[in-house]
Amino acid sequence: MNPYQDLLTDTVGGSVLLLTLNRSDARNALRNNTLRELAAALAQAEQDSAVRVVVITGGPKVFAAGADIKEMAQLDAIGALTDPRPQYWKAIASFSKPLIAAVNGYALGGGCELMMHADIAIAGAGARFGQPEINLGTMPGAGGTQRLIRTVGKPLAMKMVLSGEMLDAAGALAAGLIAEVTADEQTIERALALATTIAAKSPLAVRMAKEALLKSFEMGLDAGLNLERKSFSLLAASADRQEGIAAFLDKRQPVFAGN
Ligand code: CAA
Repeated sequence: MNPYQDLLTDTVGGSVLLLTLNRSDARNALRNNTLRELAAALAQAEQDSAVRVVVITGGPKVFAAGADIKEMAQLDAIGALTDPRPQYWKAIASFSKPLIAAVNGYALGGGCELMMHADIAIAGAGARFGQPEINLGTMPGAGGTQRLIRTVGKPLAMKMVLSGEMLDAAGALAAGLIAEVTADEQTIERALALATTIAAKSPLAVRMAKEALLKSFEMGLDAGLNLERKSFSLLAASADRQEGIAAFLDKRQPVFAGN
C-alpha cells in the first residue's frame, strides 16, 4: 500500500526508486505535506541498500509549480521562521545517493529549487524553468538564490530571480541548469535509463564522488582537492575498486557488490 498522499512510489529494475509528485490538480504545488513525504521517502531510500539511485518527477505534464501559494498565504513572519519546511529541504539536500530529476512542463519557484536539489536534471523540450516569486512580492526561499547563482552564474540568476522571466529547455541546457533535453514523452524513460546506468556502478564510489562534487560549492580549492584525494585513497580499500580494475584487466563487465 502507498503510505503517501502526495507521492507515488515505484521500484524500477530493483535498484532505482521512482518518486512521482501526485498533486496534478494543484500543478504539483509543494505543500508542507509533500515536502515532508519527500524527506521521509528519501530517508527510507537512504537506509535501503537495494535502492542505489532515486528519480523524482512530476509526471508527463508538470514538474512542480512551486510552494503551495494557498498554504504560504497563511504564514506570517513568525510562522515562516518556525516553519518545518527548511528541515525538509535540508533532509532532501543531505540525501547521499544520486537523485535525478525528470522534468516535464513547469519547474517554478520551489519546483525549480527542488530540481536544483537533484544531482542531475533531464528535461523535456517543452519544460519551463523559473523563479517567479518576485511576482508575488517575495523571493526564493528554498535555496533558489544560492544554488541558481552557483549553477548558472550571476547574470542569468539575477535576470531570472529579479524579473521572474522563465527559461525554456534549450536555454536551461545552454546555461548548465539541466544536463540533457529529451522529447517530452521520453523524459522519464531517459532519466530511468541514466539512473539504471549509475545504479550499476560502485555505490561507494558514486557516493564519494557526489559528496566531493557538491562540496566544491562550499570549499576552497585546496580543501576540496584534499577531500578528493582522501576519498580517492579510501576507495582504494574497497572491494568494488578491486573488482572494477580486475574486470577491466579480464575484459569483462564488473559486478559491484557495494563494499
Ligand atoms: N500553489 C498553489 N496552487 C497552485 C500553484 C501553486 N504554486 N500553482 C498552480 N496552482 C493551482 C491553481 O491555483 C489552480 O487551482 P484551481 O484549479 O483550484 O483554481 C490549479 O493549480 C491550476 O493552475 P492554473 O489554472 O494557473 O494552471 P495553468 O496551467 O494555467 O498555469 C502555472 C500553470 C504557470 C504553473 C500557474 O499555475 C502559475 O503561475 N502558478 C504559480 C507559480 C508560482 O508563482 N510559483 C512560485 C510559488 S512561491 C515559492 O515557490 C516560494 C519558495 O520558493 C519557497
